Amino acid sequence: MVVVCGSVPFSGVRLALGVAVDSAGSVYVADGWGNGVLKLAAGAAIAWFSSRSDLTPGYSLSTVRFVKYSIKRIAMSTGGGDAPGLNAVIRAATLAARNRDWDVVGIRDGFNGLLLPDEYPDDGLIELTRDRVRGIVHQGGTILGTTNRGSPIAYPVQLTDGTWIEVDRTEELLGRFEEHRIDALITIGGDGSLSIARHLHEAGLRLVGVPKTIDNDLENTTSTFGFDTAVDFASECIDRLFSTATSHGRIIVVEVMGRYAGWIALNAGMASGVHAILIPEIPFSLEPVASLITDRERHDAKFSIVCVAEGARPVGGELSIVGKAVGQAERLGGIGAKVAAELEQMTGREARTVVLGHLLRGGSPTSFDRLLGLRFGAAAVRALDQGYNGVMVALNPPTVNYVPLAEATRRQKKVPLDCDTILTARDMGINFGDEMPTYSAIGR
Ligand code: F6P
Repeated sequence: MVVVCGSVPFSGVRLALGVAVDSAGSVYVADGWGNGVLKLAAGAAIAWFSSRSDLTPGYSLSTVRFVKYSIKRIAMSTGGGDAPGLNAVIRAATLAARNRDWDVVGIRDGFNGLLLPDEYPDDGLIELTRDRVRGIVHQGGTILGTTNRGSPIAYPVQLTDGTWIEVDRTEELLGRFEEHRIDALITIGGDGSLSIARHLHEAGLRLVGVPKTIDNDLENTTSTFGFDTAVDFASECIDRLFSTATSHGRIIVVEVMGRYAGWIALNAGMASGVHAILIPEIPFSLEPVASLITDRERHDAKFSIVCVAEGARPVGGELSIVGKAVGQAERLGGIGAKVAAELEQMTGREARTVVLGHLLRGGSPTSFDRLLGLRFGAAAVRALDQGYNGVMVALNPPTVNYVPLAEATRRQKKVPLDCDTILTARDMGINFGDEMPTYSAIGR
């Protein structure tokens, strides 16, 4: 039972606090984000707390409502686009939880298993046993299934007249967690899924988030799993395009994923030695790219390779959007073909487009992504065990730490324009479709 709550100034910020007494008379002090629960002798806690004249009574207790002092059963869910390494997280988290004698269930297809239980066997849950997670670390995808159209905050529902609306199903979902006696959730996802996690946490669900995206665009973690695999495969594909581009003396434009950040295009483009890289962070103009291509041609290099992120856009232009469904983010695509058509016209040289798209999300994770997934999965269980709540596990070399979800979802991680990879690219003569001074790309 919570007996008092409020907030106190601490090191320049206000800390929200709740004090609870359990049936045995032990007293717990929890911070308002549920990040820590401190067990104190009853007298000491109450005396300290009630001596604070600066308390703000009435602070909403929603964030500490679900704070539990022992965990018996946890759930795991994977949301948004899949990424190689998800199964490694699921395996490590399952084993770490089972080794603490916790039950573990997986929710099918994001939260759909709980929201649409009639559409699945076993009420939409998968019992995650040691057997069920054996031999899955090297497998791409997620054994739980995922969706990028199942946000409980804006759930797409079709009306009888065929139109779609978005409905908030948060309370219903929280009820399902209670019905299934799930004490805490480990939710694995990208920026969209982690924002949903933040919302669920603020609504009272005890949870820990695990960052996932091949785009690597999440702040506060040095890397997300899936990114290394995507860069590795994109580099291999571009390597293969070099020989055919050289043989035909063509321009090849390779489009890779990367909605709002150009990490994949930059890293794969650099690793495979392309001549121009177009990323969302640098609105591009094709004149400098075309003049680089003709310059190369004058020096007997009749082929050129351009790597473009799907979210790149021309100066003053718009994102290349294919469509938008209710309850889903806009689908991007087509920028590669537009760039190829324009470069062909500007240079008179034949151009082709290759869209790597979802190939970058498939396949077996690299050893880096497997290991990162395993570390994140086990760290998420340790976090719950230690009383953390509403945090995201994050890679902070050489360790893994915990970042409040509110902080983790504040903004996306863009490529810094002064980072050394960009500087290296410019030093090597790689063009970004801007007017920044660059060196010659001849001879590459
Ligand atoms: O995972 C992020 C991402 O890879 C984006 O780069 C891309 O725009 C999106 O997924 C595509 O997802 P889907 O086709 O599954 O909707």
